[in-house]
Amino acid sequence: MKILALVFASRREGKSVTLQVTEELCGLLHARSAGAELEIVTMSELPVLSCVGCKTCFREGFCPQDGADGMAVLRQKLRDCDALIAATPVYMYSVSGWCKNFLDRCARWCHVFELLGKPCVALSVTGQTGAARACDYLSECLETMGCCVAARLPMQRQGEGLLVGSEEAQAALSEAAGKLLDAVRQPENYLSELAEAQFQAMLKSFRGIETFRTLMGRRCPDEVDTFRQRGLMNCASLREALLKKGGSAT
Ligand SMILES: Cc1cc2nc3c(=O)[nH]c(=O)nc-3n(C[C@H](O)[C@H](O)[C@H](O)COP(=O)(O)O)c2cc1C
Repeated sequence: MKILALVFASRREGKSVTLQVTEELCGLLHARSAGAELEIVTMSELPVLSCVGCKTCFREGFCPQDGADGMAVLRQKLRDCDALIAATPVYMYSVSGWCKNFLDRCARWCHVFELLGKPCVALSVTGQTGAARACDYLSECLETMGCCVAARLPMQRQGEGLLVGSEEAQAALSEAAGKLLDAVRQPENYLSELAEAQFQAMLKSFRGIETFRTLMGRRCPDEVDTFRQRGLMNCASLREALLKKGGSAT
């Protein structure tokens, strides 16, 4: 089993608290699942440029920037892993710029459910404020790509809440590790209502686009073709699509 941890922090060696907490979670996962292959990637190794808004990904199915930064490698790692930890420091009450760049570059994946059934943990670390907000945002973006978020871990270094290094935080990390491993076995139990709502919206929109384009004798955008090729056009729900593909992560 491959577990990938993406840490959207710039600082690497021993300094980033987000990285330290992620390493703790990986340690717990390692202890519980002998033989699991754990990989931690930070943005200093595979930086991601910001989206330029060209929409080529929606129309043509590829990002023209993928050759210029770490995104092509990251995409492959995401497809290959059996479970994902996404961890961001909190910057200005939200996710870090690296994290936002990454999420923007994954916009097409929210339309075609590229990560359908991928078990995830969403984690954020802040000084004092904004942890829940950042963690919820990160988690919801992952859910709209089809990920099955097993746990949300909003953590902070000071003030009230889940304090980094506290017993409560240790227990939350341990529980998250257990849930992530459970989601590897039964991802369908963690599919969110938000993911279903996103699916229904895409289904309605893509059926309309397909009908119109066919009538006009015009080709469909790549994302619509991909949606059909993945069998999503004929599913009544995302849950049905996940169960059809065996409930396992991509
Ligand atoms: C640009 C920037 C913005 C920040 N914004 C917030 C914030 O909104 N609320 C807060 O409590 N801490 C904020 N912090 C502090 C970080 O969340 C905190 O240092 C956290 O541990 C950073 O993660 P790291 O240790 O993994 O780098 C900010 C730090 C930076 C560099």
